[in-house]
Amino acid sequence: MADIYILGIESSCDDTSAAVLKNGVILSNVTASQEVHRAYGGVVPELASRAHQQNVVPVVDQALKKAGITKEQLSAIAFTRGPGLMGSLLVGVNFAKGFARSLEIPLIDVNHLQGHVMAHFIKENEADDHMPPFPFICLLVSGGNSQIVKVNAYNDMEVLGQTIDDAAGEAIDKCAKVLEWGYPGGPVIDKYARQGNPHAFRFSEPHIEGFDYSFSGFKTSFLYSLRKWIADDPKFIEKNKFDLAASIEFTIVDILMKKLRLAVKETGITHVAVAGGVSANNGLRNAFKEHAEKYGWTIYIPKFSYTTDNAAMIACVGTFKYLDEDFATINLPAFSKVTFK
Ligand code: KG4
Repeated sequence: MADIYILGIESSCDDTSAAVLKNGVILSNVTASQEVHRAYGGVVPELASRAHQQNVVPVVDQALKKAGITKEQLSAIAFTRGPGLMGSLLVGVNFAKGFARSLEIPLIDVNHLQGHVMAHFIKENEADDHMPPFPFICLLVSGGNSQIVKVNAYNDMEVLGQTIDDAAGEAIDKCAKVLEWGYPGGPVIDKYARQGNPHAFRFSEPHIEGFDYSFSGFKTSFLYSLRKWIADDPKFIEKNKFDLAASIEFTIVDILMKKLRLAVKETGITHVAVAGGVSANNGLRNAFKEHAEKYGWTIYIPKFSYTTDNAAMIACVGTFKYLDEDFATINLPAFSKVTFK
């Protein structure tokens, strides 16, 4: 069979990314992150869309060059259709449509969340076979989502539980914002937490039924406690930054792992993966390793470059869909909200 070269394009939020996979093996994964949002403490949709416009052509060009192939060798183009910011998505979607049409090759639409889950199937080389068997459980934690997903097949995912309010990453970012540690807050909290005591401060945890998550109660409890501490000592944050970060991280990881343990117990599925931006967190990664030892789980933790938004995961789903000849039509619109189809 002829080699399959898939170009993936991701532009759902504030990262413009392009990647090339050959028969599922990574050849290149180029991402341009947008620094412009830092000054605003969060992603500004209009600025994100404009930056994608500037980045998309050079990023695709670099991805092809790094992969060492010409555009004529591509078998198909896979793009993130949604969910995400509409203005951001439109740039990638329309670029992919135009490029595929000009090359007269198939177009493949990919659900961004499905991409995060399937990042575990990106091969580093031909012999790479460390990937979860179906069905497996995936904890999908990012800036916009916190879900426990039962993955029956690459195109069959069941959401067992999800957040009823904020996502885990959103809660982390809000805490960091209040602490004036910049945006995104995840990497700073991770860094400080490594030097702090996770039990120094206690924040409230939700008590809700089933596999669903909630982070708004934790956020409020953190905010009220912090206000009181600062009123007593204006230098409180500076003096306690490591312990604060470690305690925030501990609470969030504890909330995430409790429901995940429940899902594993009830489904009996012990192959457990983690995906999404928050899966870069060292506290969460360590918790996974502890659970593997204590409960006999087989765990799947993505490479750091596949945790945040990237096009390699889009090209990976694209490869599966290409083999199934599951192609998109040129008139397929982007979508901003939806979980799994
Ligand atoms: O998956 P992602 O890149 O974007 C979405 O699609 O939402 O996730 C971004 C989220 C942000 O909330 C960011 O603070 C968080 O991932 N994050 C982390 C770490 N790195 C990124 N959270 C905790 N620890 C980290 N090391």
